[in-house]
Amino acid sequence: LPHYDFVVVSNRLPVDRVIDADGTERWQRSPGGLVTALEPVMRASHGAWVGWAGQPDLDLAPFDSDDATLVPVPLSPLEIEYYYEGFSNDTLWPLYHDVIASPSFHREWWEAYVEVNQRFADASARVAAPGATVWVQDYQLQLVPRMLREQRPDLTIGFFNHIPFPPYGIYAQLPWRKQVIEGLLGADVIGFQRVADAGNFSRAVRRLFGYATRTPEIRVPDGLGGHRSVIAKAFPISIDVESFEQIARRPEVQQRAQQIRDDLGNPSTIMLGVDRLDYTKGIRHRLKAFGELLGDGTLAVGDAVLVQVASPSRERVAAYMQLRDEIELTVGRLNGQYATISHSAVAYLHHGYPREEMVALYLAADVMLVTALRDGMNLVAKEYVACQLDEDGVLVLSEFAGAADELKNALLVNPHDIDGLKEAIVAAVRMPQRERTTRMRALRRRVRDNDVARWSATFLDTLRHANHHSDAR
Ligand code: G6P
Repeated sequence: LPHYDFVVVSNRLPVDRVIDADGTERWQRSPGGLVTALEPVMRASHGAWVGWAGQPDLDLAPFDSDDATLVPVPLSPLEIEYYYEGFSNDTLWPLYHDVIASPSFHREWWEAYVEVNQRFADASARVAAPGATVWVQDYQLQLVPRMLREQRPDLTIGFFNHIPFPPYGIYAQLPWRKQVIEGLLGADVIGFQRVADAGNFSRAVRRLFGYATRTPEIRVPDGLGGHRSVIAKAFPISIDVESFEQIARRPEVQQRAQQIRDDLGNPSTIMLGVDRLDYTKGIRHRLKAFGELLGDGTLAVGDAVLVQVASPSRERVAAYMQLRDEIELTVGRLNGQYATISHSAVAYLHHGYPREEMVALYLAADVMLVTALRDGMNLVAKEYVACQLDEDGVLVLSEFAGAADELKNALLVNPHDIDGLKEAIVAAVRMPQRERTTRMRALRRRVRDNDVARWSATFLDTLRHANHHSDAR
């Protein structure tokens, strides 16, 4: 097996192996913001990407894709249940997202998390060249930095947390709160989406370990009587703006956008929501506000339509099944009450779509609704902005999404405040052209200035300049 100077480690590979109904197997782009952001980074450096291929018991040899050498890590059905669905997505995910759903704590899940993290660390150690840079991604793999450092002190280790890091009062619920922080502190640089996340992490380190922190530096005892320094800092993630703009410029994509408008009956306002079907995304709040606006006559079916793409996600986790039922009940009710033979109130799509189709939807939409109750960044907001080449279109954006730190020219909302959300939607629908352009121009400048190339360059630069050595003699 060749060795690589640059290794990315994430729970999921950028492609999932899927088996169609007729039994044929194919590779499909993985869902979510992490892959969206990391794909272009990998393309630029052709290293190794260590991750799970999305199916149980797949023990595949490393293979080359366009962008990287993919190194599959196998997971058994029980590990998928305990480590992925359980500890990652039913313990950490709700805990790190403000306990919007209540987290479950199970010791067997934790044990599986430790074991699987060790497997990821071992696989990464095997492909990393001497002195390589290894960049570990996200909440599923928080123990990997320390496990890697223990076997391979020669490596430079970065970690990036794509989701929020919770305030101490919430984090403290985690029975394994110390082990998780020790795992992370194995990295040289720990990246977060927002300044607030980095602050929450440093506070947790002080409260639980009493280590000295001088933002962004944390002094960690190295076990040899000296210290190492770890940087904990915000690096807001982004998208490959250029590639979205290119797709948005294509004539066939613009025609597809027009087709979508025609198919919807050319309403004056197309509103759009695009999310993984996840309780953090505030889809119910959005439907509630939209329904009330139809109910009180502020909006009328035929004039306005909400297109909601909710891509299937974590479908075996109970909270996600419940959410799907609730959303589909609500959409059914809204359409039952307000739709006509020719016009829906809500066009609800429980599918994932290729990038071209998403861009056509962004082009067709007059108003983009991002109403997350808590979100690390939310790249959909940035994608929408990047695609508005004509500087038109309005972004309604939750202040609880990381993107709100940068996208100040959006209409910022508190999605829990249904009246406030309704007002923002009405303001978006009625916004004069001049204001739309002024806001969108500023948003576009911001997204272009901090694109994903800048994000990774800034992170990797910080990692390169970090002090990897302890001060012990
Ligand atoms: C978020 C997480 C990613 C995850 C993605 C899709 O973006 O930060 O780590 O990969 O959701 O979720 P899934 O559970 O399907 O990997």
